[in-house]
Amino acid sequence: MASRKPFVGGNWKMNTNRTTGSDLARAVSDGLMTLDGVDAAVFPPFPYLLTVRSILRDRGSSIRLGSQDVYHQNDGAFTGEVSVAMLKDCGVQTALVGHSERRHVIGEKDELINKKLRALLEAGMDAVLCVGETLDEREAGHQEIVNSRQVRTGLAEIPAPYAERLVIAYEPVWAIGTGKTASPQDAQEMHAAIRNLISRLYNADVAARVRIIYGGSVKADNAAELFSQPDIDGGLIGGASLKSADFVAITKAAAEAAKDKA
Ligand code: PGA
Repeated sequence: MASRKPFVGGNWKMNTNRTTGSDLARAVSDGLMTLDGVDAAVFPPFPYLLTVRSILRDRGSSIRLGSQDVYHQNDGAFTGEVSVAMLKDCGVQTALVGHSERRHVIGEKDELINKKLRALLEAGMDAVLCVGETLDEREAGHQEIVNSRQVRTGLAEIPAPYAERLVIAYEPVWAIGTGKTASPQDAQEMHAAIRNLISRLYNADVAARVRIIYGGSVKADNAAELFSQPDIDGGLIGGASLKSADFVAITKAAAEAAKDKA
C-alpha cells in the first residue's frame, strides 16, 4: 500500500471571534508543536486569517493556513468575494472548495466549484475538494453516482501534476454536524470508489498518492477507527475542531493510524 501522509483540517465554519479564534489557534499550535507525520491545517473565517497567520508564524508552527472558500476571478466587480491572489497575499496556503454548506445552503454548483479549484491549483495553492451525498441520495442508493459526478466535474480540465496538490474530502451531508458518523466500512467503501475513479481519470500513481479524507461528525473517540481504514487518509473536522484538545487528539490519531498502515 502506498504510504500517504495524513491530512487533518479544522473547519471552523462561521464560528469564533477575534479572541476565541486566537486562543484556539494558540492552543492548537501548542498542542501540535512536536507532531510530525501528519499535515494539519486550520480554516478560520476570512476576517481572522491574518491574526491566525501571525500566531502560527510567531510560534513556528507547521500548521497550514486555509480559507473556507475562494472566488475564481482575479479581481474586479465581484462584491463580497475574495480572490486567490488576496488569499496568497495573506499567507493562505490552501482552501476548501465545494463544502456541502456552500453547495446546499448557498447553492454552489459543480461548474463553479471546478472554476475555483482550477484557479487555486493554477496559482500554485493547495486545495481541498469536498464531495458528499445527501440523505435522500443515499437512501435512493445514488451515493456512488453523486460522488462520482462531483469528483469528475470538480476535476474537469485539471491535469495530473495539479491533482497531486489536491486533497479530496468525502463528507456525507447527513453526517455533517449531526452526530451521525458513517460507519468505517461505509466510509472506506466510498473512499475506495473515489480512489478508483481517480485512477481512471488520471492513473494508478496519482490515485495511490492523492489523499482522501473523511468528514462528518469525526470526534476524538471515533477518529482512530475511521483513520485505520486503508483508504481514509485523515479527516476534515467541524464541530470538534473548535475544541483544541479534541482537534489535537484527532490529529494525533491520524499520525498513529498512518504508522500502523506503513
Ligand atoms: P462536523 O463538520 O465535524 O461538525 O460534522 C465537518 C465539516 O463540515 O467539514
